[in-house]
Amino acid sequence: MLSCGYFTVSKIVNNRGINMAELVWKGKYTNQQWASDEEAEIIISNPTIQHFYTYESIERQSADNWSNVAPSSTQSWYNRLILGDKNAVLPALLYEFAGQINLIYIDPPFMTGRDFKSGMQLAYSDKWDNDLDAYLQWLYETFILLRQLLASNGSIYVHLDWRITHYARVILDEVFGYNPGTDGPGFKNEIIWHYQSGGRSLKHYARKHDTILLYTKSAHYCFHGERIGERRGAKKRNHMKKCVDTGGHVQWTISSAGRLYTYDEDTFMTPTDVWSDISHLHQKDPERNGYATQKPAALLERIILASSEENDLVLDCFCGSGVTPTVADQLGRRWIACDQSELALKTTCERLLAQDQVHPFILQRIAEGTSAHVNSGKYGIIEPANNQADQ
Ligand SMILES: C[S@@+](CC[C@H](N)C(=O)[O-])C[C@H]1O[C@@H](n2cnc3c(N)ncnc32)[C@H](O)[C@@H]1O
Repeated sequence: MLSCGYFTVSKIVNNRGINMAELVWKGKYTNQQWASDEEAEIIISNPTIQHFYTYESIERQSADNWSNVAPSSTQSWYNRLILGDKNAVLPALLYEFAGQINLIYIDPPFMTGRDFKSGMQLAYSDKWDNDLDAYLQWLYETFILLRQLLASNGSIYVHLDWRITHYARVILDEVFGYNPGTDGPGFKNEIIWHYQSGGRSLKHYARKHDTILLYTKSAHYCFHGERIGERRGAKKRNHMKKCVDTGGHVQWTISSAGRLYTYDEDTFMTPTDVWSDISHLHQKDPERNGYATQKPAALLERIILASSEENDLVLDCFCGSGVTPTVADQLGRRWIACDQSELALKTTCERLLAQDQVHPFILQRIAEGTSAHVNSGKYGIIEPANNQADQ
């Protein structure tokens, strides 16, 4: 075991049987829960687990070409907007959705040490009393539960910044696996989202990027670089050789490791892992809805198009301004969104309703109680038997 100051890096065999380095913090082993799929089974079958209470259902008249996306032809589906702490919501979701979520995007608190306000109202507190151990434990438990919710071909994008990315990568490697090649589960990309917001420190380089980590549950996952890429076109970009046929059509060739690669000008290039073409939302951006830390819809559009298919199920358990459910809805994906903040839920709900069209969704919150669950089939979800009684 190696000791790196405050933390310890040790060699472990992770729960996927891989021998690898591990990040250890105070409380990791005393608090550890749900570390394996077998232990998740215990949660799923635990009748004392909290469950959801549906307090409103929102259905708009659908336009002719706007279908009510459904997981199967026999079951109607309602998207879900849930008020609650992820510590309660994720275990409750496991009961219904273990292994069924196709795409997860999370933009959790970054341990900034700040309170975030929208106007005078507190949106959420990101202070953590400077307790990095507590924060890492919280993040670790989140990743473990999210992995168990993910479908075998699912992907997770974790949006962080310079404060936490390095810790999160080691933890994600432990939970999802680290295979720098392309043919295993786990790490796929460290995406740099580079933006030009105001403010430049005189003491160090201006910090102008966030990091979005992409991990997959297995080697078989959905990825469509062509949907989000730029057309190769006729303009010269690098060392490729340009060939123009008699019809004026351009092809690009390059040889590498003894092989000749040929690309048509009409093909689409997968974007690189540095995204500089999506602007942050400036103060007066019309997309802004007033929620602090709101991310641009273009970012989510790229992620959802690349890593999911129509009708797939998308989850964001820190939905804030509602960017993920709104973009998912517009792109015909099913979605589940959650946040602990009443303001986030209100903002998300208003944002969804401000769209010209929105698929039916229900508002839920965690209901305390110990009722057993039964499948009522209503809203395409599994609801607790004595839902009303538990309010
Ligand atoms: C960085 S913001 C997300 C911003 C969002 N991606 C957007 O574009 O608007 C983090 C969110 O996590 C929520 N949050 C913090 N702790 C939470 C918890 N334990 N459970 C659920 N939500 C939580 C906060 O209320 C906040 O809305």
